[in-house]
Amino acid sequence: MSSNIDFVCPIEADLYEAVMEHLRLTFFWEEPLNVCVSLCEAPGSGHPKLEAVCLDTLQDGLSIVALSDGKVVGCALNGSQSRQQLDEAIKQTYAETDKKFRSIFSMLYDNNRDIDLYTKYDVHDIFECRILSVDPDYRGKGIARILLDQSIQEARLRGFKLFKVDATSAISQRICRSRSLTLEHEILYADHLDPDTGKPAFVPPPPHYGLQIYSRLFEKE
Ligand SMILES: CC(C)(COP(=O)(O)OP(=O)(O)OC[C@H]1O[C@@H](n2cnc3c(N)ncnc32)[C@H](O)[C@@H]1OP(=O)(O)O)[C@@H](O)C(=O)NCCC(=O)NCCS
Repeated sequence: MSSNIDFVCPIEADLYEAVMEHLRLTFFWEEPLNVCVSLCEAPGSGHPKLEAVCLDTLQDGLSIVALSDGKVVGCALNGSQSRQQLDEAIKQTYAETDKKFRSIFSMLYDNNRDIDLYTKYDVHDIFECRILSVDPDYRGKGIARILLDQSIQEARLRGFKLFKVDATSAISQRICRSRSLTLEHEILYADHLDPDTGKPAFVPPPPHYGLQIYSRLFEKE
């Protein structure tokens, strides 16, 4: 198992570039929606706008990195979002000229606006697990599961009332179910149509088939 892996939170600024390098080779290249729209040209090539989202998230100081002998082998990028910040992000995304980036983020943000967990649970800020990523050489050892568990723990310790994950991959969905998170919402990619073509905007390879949004509500102790 992951006994020789260190899990560190928060991620210090001197590790940001190593985390980004890890993400360019993994999440940026492999996450199902990024794959569907060919967001990046090649493994490691990166994407400036996605990197800006990641950097913003890192600066919230809620993210967790998995290190093996000092090497970044995984991370959970976690951030805090208020309803006002969500509305602002939606406005910016609709003004976005990069269609690939816009198609992914507008779908995620629209679904979050529609289910409105802020009103449902009467919360001002939500702790969001935005990115889960593990180096291919270290997969299947439970690292993502630990990253998710520690993220939930971090949310609770920091006094958030609600923890949330937008799970775009069948594997992250399986992990959320295994942690008994609450399924708040699901859409099938086949039902999410590109407004320009009228065809599904995302056609990922199996086993990925839809977006699921999961939550954990922390009751007052
Ligand atoms: C998703 C990801 C983070 C999982 O990391 P991981 O450390 O290998 O996951 P874990 O070892 O904690 O596995 C968790 C569960 O998923 C299962 N799993 C892991 N990889 C799998 C695969 N390729 N196919 C099917 N199941 C898989 C494990 O068997 C385990 O299930 P179990 O608890 O029922 O035994 C990793 O595959 C990844 O970085 N993918 C690319 C980026 C991405 O798509 N991120 C998620 C988007 S929200």
